[in-house]
Amino acid sequence: MKVLSIVGARPQFVKLAPVAEALEVSGHQHLIVHTGQHYDANLSEVFFADLKIAAPNVHLGVGSGSHGVQTGAILAALDSVLDDHRPDWVLVYGDTNSTLAGAIAAVKMHLPVAHLEAGLRSFNRRMPEEHNRILTDHAADLCLAPTELAISNLAKEGLSDRSALVGDVMTDVCLRVRDVVAGLPPRLHDLFRPTDGYLIATIHRAENTDDPDRLEAIISALGALSRPVALLAHPRLVARAAGFGIRLATGAVHQLQPLSYPELVGAVLSSHGVITDSGGLQKESFLLGVPCTTLRAETEWPETLEDGWNVLDPDLDKVGQLADRPAPRLPRGTPFGDGHAAAKAVDVLASKV
Ligand code: UD1
Repeated sequence: MKVLSIVGARPQFVKLAPVAEALEVSGHQHLIVHTGQHYDANLSEVFFADLKIAAPNVHLGVGSGSHGVQTGAILAALDSVLDDHRPDWVLVYGDTNSTLAGAIAAVKMHLPVAHLEAGLRSFNRRMPEEHNRILTDHAADLCLAPTELAISNLAKEGLSDRSALVGDVMTDVCLRVRDVVAGLPPRLHDLFRPTDGYLIATIHRAENTDDPDRLEAIISALGALSRPVALLAHPRLVARAAGFGIRLATGAVHQLQPLSYPELVGAVLSSHGVITDSGGLQKESFLLGVPCTTLRAETEWPETLEDGWNVLDPDLDKVGQLADRPAPRLPRGTPFGDGHAAAKAVDVLASKV
């Protein structure tokens, strides 16, 4: 079987790692196309290096732009790449503009396309990621779902006969990396000396970064917290804050660069809690047993809300109290699978060639 993976943004490199490994172990041919949506080394290269992913076979070098410009540029560039390689499966991951462009390019060329992490829904139709998820699921020939809930979302949209439950591939990586870094001192750059009870924060969703009043309110809520906050600042956040004249390093907030994946897992494991708007980090906090506060009105991973492991606070009126709360005492279930999702995904792909 010949599989061509299309990736471009940070969370996709994390998902790619276990899939690339499972394809290699089972002797399948695998080509990696990097769209270039993320190009800063700390959003791209470090993930390939730390997660031991082979260098991309093709790099489209598309870069940043509006949704139309970025999605369109990837789409245009993919035609000749897909034509050159004609894989048995085009595999797209998650919910970014690279995902949608990959799915459309493949479907237009009558190449079978599979969507990994299919069926997630936030039901917020203003999120670019929600557009990308829904459109990709409906374009795909095969929807590889991470959870039972994702399978039921796909069923409600009439996609049952193209869906398969494989589990969550990010769980595969998260648990593996946890076992490597557990017990090591957390590394959060030289700027920040982790103390007992620090918080990890990340903010990058358009709904939180692109409105100056909203962004100001978030930063002042973080700044007022009683624990030190390591704000791992995504370039989008840095760019918007600079444009609006908002200082990120205020009060309790220490502004840091994004971390590599093992550093992030280690930093979360040793933290008191996480405050975020990232989907992946909500789930990683749950898997690592650290309470998470999500600065959004909804989540595409509602399983994390169980027993208060993750709490939504869109109005920012409870952040202080939530950030201080201890981890729930109740044991967590395993809604995201057993850490072998990538191997299952590869089996399903191979069974349909
Ligand atoms: C994208 C995904 C989002 C995902 C996130 C993970 C879409 C619509 N959004 O959001 O789902 O959660 O990646 O990080 O696809 N920039 C840099 N260097 C880079 C990349 C981006 O400086 O390497 C800056 C640029 O100012 C750019 C901005 O970040 O305009 C936004 O980048 P973009 O790729 O459009 O979206 P993300 O916010 O990263």
